[in-house]
Amino acid sequence: MTIQIITLFPEMFEGVLNTSMLRKAQEKKLVDYGLINLRDYGIGPRKQVDDTPYGGGDGMVLRPEPLVVAIEDARSKVSNQESEVILLTPRGAVFTQADARELAKCSSLILVCGRYEGYDERVAKFVNRQVSIGDYVLTGGELPAMVVADAVTRLIPGVLGGETSAELESFSDGVAKEHPHYTRPEQFRDLKVPEVLISGNHEAIADWRKKHSV
Ligand code: ADE
Repeated sequence: MTIQIITLFPEMFEGVLNTSMLRKAQEKKLVDYGLINLRDYGIGPRKQVDDTPYGGGDGMVLRPEPLVVAIEDARSKVSNQESEVILLTPRGAVFTQADARELAKCSSLILVCGRYEGYDERVAKFVNRQVSIGDYVLTGGELPAMVVADAVTRLIPGVLGGETSAELESFSDGVAKEHPHYTRPEQFRDLKVPEVLISGNHEAIADWRKKHSV
């Protein structure tokens, strides 16, 4: 899968995409992340990407041309594939595990990060969906894009190892929240590991885990 991210702040992604599972997913060639700097598509010598809002008001609004040309360029980089273009915005539909599963089946995702006070609404015509990660407002779409990239990448077969992803898929009705986990020591302060987990009774352990999954 290819995940291209259009952002004014590509440096924000370096740590997240190059650590732990997301790094391993790249090393295993299961995912290829591409960072596209929106500034490169800015207008004029000052590479302007934003302007004042029509109708007045505070703040700046991202102009449509840099965003749309960046999207078109990203699409053309993977022109042999159908791209799903996702605009991260607090006005979008709230992102769910079912969405992550659906997106994990795509071969090309393009995540578009909004910034500043907003983006020119005409950009919406050039994307397939608008996604919010929750009912709160962040300073931009970068953290939401990282959330989507993480949630999708871990569902690509082979990233976590077949067992875990198969287990997640087996829950048909939304989110599979695993049972609680314990490791050594058996007693920490006055807190003990549930007896059943050290019983060696595999059937009882499986029952306990099932009961404690959400
Ligand atoms: N941009 C700002 N806030 C956001 C949110 N909650 N979800 C997606 N994009 C955003």
